[in-house]
Amino acid sequence: MKYLPITFILSLFLTLSCTKSKDTDKSTDKGQSYRPQVDSLLSLMTLEEKVGQMVQYSGGWDITGPESDNNKLKKQQIKKGLVGSMLNVTSVEKVREAQKLAIENSRLKIPMIFGYDVIHGYKTMFPLPLAEAASWDLDLMERTAQVSAKEAAAAGINWTFAPMVDISRDARWGRIMESAGEDTYLNTVVGLAKMRGYQGESLSDVNTIAACAKHFAGYGYVKSGKEYNTVSIGEHELHNVVLPPFKALADAGIASFMNSFSDMDGIPATASYRLQTEVLKEKWDYNGMIVSDWGSVEELSIHGIAKDDAEAAKIAANAGNDMGMESSAYAKHLVQLVKDGEVDESRIDDAVSRILTLKYKLGLFDNPYKYCNEEREKTSIYTKAHLDLAYEAALKSIVLLKNKDKVLPISKDVKSIALIGPLADDKNSPLGNWRARAKDNSAISLYEGLKEKLPSTIDLKYHEGVDYVISGENFATPLKINTTDDSKIKNAVQLAKSQELVILAVGENAFQSGEGRSRTDISFPGLQEQLIKAVYDANPNTIMVLMNGRPMDISWSAQNIPAIVEAWHLGSQAGYAIADVLLGNYNPSGKLPVSFPQRTGQEPFFYSHKNTGRPDVNPYDIIHSQHNDVPNDPVFAFGHGLSYTTFEYGDIQLDKDSFSKGEFINVQIDVKNTGQRVGHEIVQLYIRDLVGSITRPVIELKDFKKIHLKPGETKTVEFEISESTIAFYTISKKWEAEPGEFKVFVGSSAIQNTSKSFYFK
Ligand code: NOJ
Repeated sequence: MKYLPITFILSLFLTLSCTKSKDTDKSTDKGQSYRPQVDSLLSLMTLEEKVGQMVQYSGGWDITGPESDNNKLKKQQIKKGLVGSMLNVTSVEKVREAQKLAIENSRLKIPMIFGYDVIHGYKTMFPLPLAEAASWDLDLMERTAQVSAKEAAAAGINWTFAPMVDISRDARWGRIMESAGEDTYLNTVVGLAKMRGYQGESLSDVNTIAACAKHFAGYGYVKSGKEYNTVSIGEHELHNVVLPPFKALADAGIASFMNSFSDMDGIPATASYRLQTEVLKEKWDYNGMIVSDWGSVEELSIHGIAKDDAEAAKIAANAGNDMGMESSAYAKHLVQLVKDGEVDESRIDDAVSRILTLKYKLGLFDNPYKYCNEEREKTSIYTKAHLDLAYEAALKSIVLLKNKDKVLPISKDVKSIALIGPLADDKNSPLGNWRARAKDNSAISLYEGLKEKLPSTIDLKYHEGVDYVISGENFATPLKINTTDDSKIKNAVQLAKSQELVILAVGENAFQSGEGRSRTDISFPGLQEQLIKAVYDANPNTIMVLMNGRPMDISWSAQNIPAIVEAWHLGSQAGYAIADVLLGNYNPSGKLPVSFPQRTGQEPFFYSHKNTGRPDVNPYDIIHSQHNDVPNDPVFAFGHGLSYTTFEYGDIQLDKDSFSKGEFINVQIDVKNTGQRVGHEIVQLYIRDLVGSITRPVIELKDFKKIHLKPGETKTVEFEISESTIAFYTISKKWEAEPGEFKVFVGSSAIQNTSKSFYFK
């Protein structure tokens, strides 16, 4: 096979490419339509070439500049057809150059696939995933993913490493910003919306890219929220809480999965046969590919379960991993491992088939330069329409946390405003942590937004309040924060006194959340708390705008500051959107996808906890499940978010109070807009399973609807409770609904007062 004449190979290969069935690969297609092409190509490949497909290198090299030996080596390997994929090669010019190396030099001319972290935008930045999840607007999230895919695809990219669906319940963990928060249901539906946006109807569409469910699995459970730490998750929690979003994405046809860096109960995910093969590929019948995380194959020896890179490659490949990201272990050792009988060639064939299938689905065999169109790159990135969408997404992601005495929206009668705080004129932080190709400092700051939107009659003055970041504002280095020099606070206080109203913009810099950005203390970093107290003391007519990538301990502010707006890191158009909410040009409707604790020490802190044998009935009752120093209640609950109007919920109506297999209960509730403004409300349905074969959460989100109501208008919101609503991974290790009594709650957050009982028989 190795020595087939090249002309024969080429003609066969061209025939295979040209006879590719017209695209039938809907996102849900299991890839079977490409089986004949994949098998034929596989039969032409040498073992070395097959292993090459399992290798992914990071590019990012300069086309012209001097070249490192490492890069030279990578290029040689590409030319020999020994590299299946590249990541971090961005721009049509660079992708084309890299792809040419493979197509014009390698024996079989197999195109490479190009991956990149397009997490919340490519160049047009949308809100952080955690922020966007606060919109609870699935259609919006699909559209922002669609635009991100369009921009990335126009720059040569055909694969994003998103969505991340790690259940994130520990706010100390920096990557909580990349998830849809603490809840399994919300992560599932958000993950599916993102996947639909990236992959569209067909991967062969030139504007869609392959998506990736990550990190499989358990990364969000790193102990003490410390990055890359070990993880312990019990069997039932794994199946009931952590795996459902991944299962849903696998069923929906997501193109790829990525391993987690973490070690769960002694097995790093990249080495886990159970997760990759038994659960994902066998039990869930998943036919897509699994890429490791960056260097996580080699890291198996650092974890201490492989003695060297060769053993690491053997363990990872045998466990079911298909491609090593920025890893040379496969390239160096897999061929020999197969020859020595340590890895079966059928495992290699399986991995390569999955990778080739994706390349066929993307249409790369039809045209390896399909995503390399300079004209498209010039015209479809960072367009006015995309920025408009970024603005819409920012508006919808804002959560009004507190609004005592209707301080907000800012009254038309206000004559002077002091804008104070280190984030008030920050044009960089709103871009967020995973900013892909966004231009640094390109976001609209709150100060810019206010200047543009405020009537000229209002006197707006700005002061940063404290020097905040001293150094390290980039992806690779830790931030150094000023914790000593409070000399600017007095000027801020003077300004606060001189103006009628204060807007305080505080929170976290973009590089205080994200990968490698875990913290032991989630209160205001640096001297901000001191600034907040001094300013409030000088002028209690203060509104706080919080910018952050995680829930924070804002207990003092929540008690004292009359109005608090959660503005996260909202992307390119942040400042305009926040200004419009503050001024009442837009009525906020976001709801928290994470609970805000009283204190860092409560983390991991989440609403759907278990009852325990000694639930806390009275705060501080010593022999109950509580901390002695703070109450168990959240400062702001999961699902919480106010509006400039008010909503009144009627009684929950059930069409019957019991149901059996195959039936469902219809739930209805009237929601009335009792205020003066048009508004959106996110109506949330939770259930509680009172007695189960394993203990069940005190309350669990199962559905939600976003409705729009005019003043005085009432709408009847309907839900359906079926067997799948109440099913879970039971003591019998099966997904099933157990008979018994349940409670259903419908309301505006996870703090619920009214419920109705129903039974499953
Ligand atoms: C490491 C991160 O964990 C992963 O999510 C990301 O996709 C890769 N690096 C590639 O940048």
